[in-house]
Amino acid sequence: MLRRPPEKTINRKQMNTRLLCAMTLAPLTLIACSDSSDRPSTPPAVACSGTAVTPERLFLQQVGSDRAIIKWRGNTDGGAEADAVCFGTEMDFLDEDSLTAAEVTATGHSEALLQGLTPDTTYYYSVGGAGSAQAQHSFRTAPEAGQLPADGNIRLWIVGDSGVNSQENEYQGGADLVRDGYLAWVNENGGEPADLFLMLGDNAYPEGTDVQHQIAVFDTYPDILSSTGLWPTIGNHEMGFFGASTSSDPDSFSAPQGGEPDPAPDSPMPYLNIHTLPTNGEAGGVGSGTEQYYSFDYGSVHVVSLDSQLAVRDPASREAMLQWVTDDLAANTSDWTVVIFHHPPYTKGSHDSDKILGGIDQPIFDMREQFTPVFDEYGVDLVYSGHSHIYERSFYIGGHTGLAATFDPATNAELNDAGQPASGQGDEEYTQVTRNGTDDKVVYTVAGNGGKATDVADSFPHPAHFFGGLVIGSVVVDAAESSLTARFIDDNGEVLDSFTINR
Ligand SMILES: [Fe+2]
Ligand SMILES: [Fe+2]
Repeated sequence: MLRRPPEKTINRKQMNTRLLCAMTLAPLTLIACSDSSDRPSTPPAVACSGTAVTPERLFLQQVGSDRAIIKWRGNTDGGAEADAVCFGTEMDFLDEDSLTAAEVTATGHSEALLQGLTPDTTYYYSVGGAGSAQAQHSFRTAPEAGQLPADGNIRLWIVGDSGVNSQENEYQGGADLVRDGYLAWVNENGGEPADLFLMLGDNAYPEGTDVQHQIAVFDTYPDILSSTGLWPTIGNHEMGFFGASTSSDPDSFSAPQGGEPDPAPDSPMPYLNIHTLPTNGEAGGVGSGTEQYYSFDYGSVHVVSLDSQLAVRDPASREAMLQWVTDDLAANTSDWTVVIFHHPPYTKGSHDSDKILGGIDQPIFDMREQFTPVFDEYGVDLVYSGHSHIYERSFYIGGHTGLAATFDPATNAELNDAGQPASGQGDEEYTQVTRNGTDDKVVYTVAGNGGKATDVADSFPHPAHFFGGLVIGSVVVDAAESSLTARFIDDNGEVLDSFTINR
């Protein structure tokens, strides 16, 4: 059964009725406008009566257990943009009571906030307010916080540095191959779609302009974005300057190749205009007060997105983010906790976590030295980063804040029965609470290969890593009640690495 959005919206039929009343009253014919007393006690259901519009970009934000944001811009037919959506649980019938008007942002995005939704339920929607929906215009709400969905599994799809389609070079098209490899694996393994789509930064090369986002994000994943909530993090290429910015100020965004920055007031930074991210804990977690970093709950999974590009570069803003994530994780009681940010603490790929690269990679050191101890202390299970255009996956580690040479398996890694770092596979699967009786270890994955795999550092591999591969692909995480399995899937749909954590 449909639930009416709490905010009172006037649907089109009501608008027509009011218009008709006004016209009738004008010549003083004293014909009473119809009211509810004239209606049969059970009025026939009426579908939304608008016309479906196919926007140039369409995506979902903050899909939770009882709310979701549908966001769009443009009309591929060149006609008027849609100003409302209709939604419901039946694809072929979207009730008129569901008509929800959109707000238009300073950069011309329309966003409709759907509220009062039922947890763990599939909803269909029509941009433009038609009475039926296309199959790919549907999403499933999250289960209530702490719960699993009916199928018993929460699936995350994670891509990093996937923004290659907006830059003309030999890597263009790589994101399509990665996407198709992931979809091929899904099709051959039960067909379960992802519940969450996480992007690890460098989502639109080379400068993160609005036009580049259109090509690298919206034109690359249209069906996934119209059916799956998108949760991103900021990469260096989201700040213009060809990825070389070392500023902590989003207002310093500059894109010489991509034209003018986006207009204020939201931000000159297209990433912050495009995304509508939770700032007040409205999706779960502790409110951060900024869209640059945030957290949310999706059933039994808690996800934290940190800003390793801007907020870490200034001592005061870094301290504020560190305090916030400490508070957020201290309050977190979810079964599984996943953290994403762009700059990997441990990598020997196209970036080297032992080098600051003229300041561009200073965040690697800041995140490793100041943030990874918090992950150890508060039971984070998985950390995903990009930036290095390679796949690398660590052992189950903790307490490693120094350069690669300081990694000591005996003290930093969970060990197998032979005293070697455990693989996370077969009889060496990890347990959330480790052998020492505490939940103090984390698997770190670099997945900056969502569109291109470029090169490795001279000192590859990093000693904290179990597996590394110079190959493009993406990650699927399946979080169930008592175990979590993460898989790296290449562009052929083959699983090249996996590990399991049991709880
Ligand atoms: Fe990158
Ligand atoms: Fe990067």
